[in-house]
Amino acid sequence: MSHFTPRVFSGVQPTGNLHLGNYLGAITKFVALQDTHDCIYCIVDLHAITLWQDPRALTRNIREVTAAFLAAGVDPQKHIVFNQSQVSAHAELAWVFNCVARMGWLNRMTQFKEKAGKHRENASVGLFSYPNLMAADILTYRATHVPVGEDQKQHLELARDIAQKFNTDFAASIKEHGHENGFFPLPEPLITGPATRVMSLRDGSKKMSKSEPSDYSRINLTDSADMIAKKIRKARTDPEALPGEPAGLEGRPEAANLVGIFGALAGKPVEEVLRDFGGANFSSFKPALAELAVEKLGPLGERMNELMDDPGYIDAVLVDGAERARRIATPVYDDVKKIIGFIG
Ligand code: AMP
Ligand code: TRP
Repeated sequence: MSHFTPRVFSGVQPTGNLHLGNYLGAITKFVALQDTHDCIYCIVDLHAITLWQDPRALTRNIREVTAAFLAAGVDPQKHIVFNQSQVSAHAELAWVFNCVARMGWLNRMTQFKEKAGKHRENASVGLFSYPNLMAADILTYRATHVPVGEDQKQHLELARDIAQKFNTDFAASIKEHGHENGFFPLPEPLITGPATRVMSLRDGSKKMSKSEPSDYSRINLTDSADMIAKKIRKARTDPEALPGEPAGLEGRPEAANLVGIFGALAGKPVEEVLRDFGGANFSSFKPALAELAVEKLGPLGERMNELMDDPGYIDAVLVDGAERARRIATPVYDDVKKIIGFIG
């Protein structure tokens, strides 16, 4: 048992096109964890600029992610919702972690390889050191649990390695400053449920992503009911009917994806979805999925749009959240400075 108080932290980048994968893989979990944990949810704007962002769009996207959290049911009073750039400890601790993490560790990160592509020499330094900032986000709150989609697993492992190395490198000083069992917890990823990796509607081998050029590859949280139905209708499938059991989905990534989405939206295991739809063709399954998706996402998108019409309210939520976040983060970073040997 860890001696650290359980605390949840997670972040979403304000890079536009919030989609069903973000919702099922992350945001619904954020909402559920509020009943059992103290939660801190962050709009990670410093991460967003590792790829160039249009300034006006960035401002809008920060508000849009905030609106999505609130519309989905995150409670900014009981818990904390804020944007990263308002709390300076993130960037400061990230610098310390730049000096703890090893080049070899970061060289293994698959997300960097994917995002930098063939033009590595031209990628920003920030894109490379991105996982160190992510570790700082989590550890500046000494958070113990991190709900994320499957794609973030490797970054979480890196955050654990950084926490471990800091605890080891400064073990004596950490003890001298009164921390008996290490300074940072080793944060655990929470990657659970039926939709930890929602795939593109156009290609079942690629994850649904904000940056995929085809808008038909994803369902955006602000899509209209007509658009949602149209995208599901056009989603790629195979010619077979649905199987009666999960084993029958093997080798059928598009079918598995749509069934997984149905289960996640309905709150049912895949077995149960297939009990209901086994033997059905996509011509009958797709309309049922579209109806369910519209029922769940329609009100969410509407609420998001209402909130977006009142940017003053959203900005006030963020300012309040940042102040409360700072109250936790600043003392932790002050301790880090003492442990390292800085003055003041
Ligand atoms: P990002 O859009 O990269 O900021 O991701 C925000 C959160 O959504 C992270 O926890 C991701 O792991 C999660 N996420 C992003 N894309 C997907 C996807 N296609 N399926 C499931 N979770 C996802
Ligand atoms: N890297 C995450 C993503 O792209 C976003 C993120 C930044 C994050 N900092 C975090 C997630 C801290 C969890 C905890 O999805």
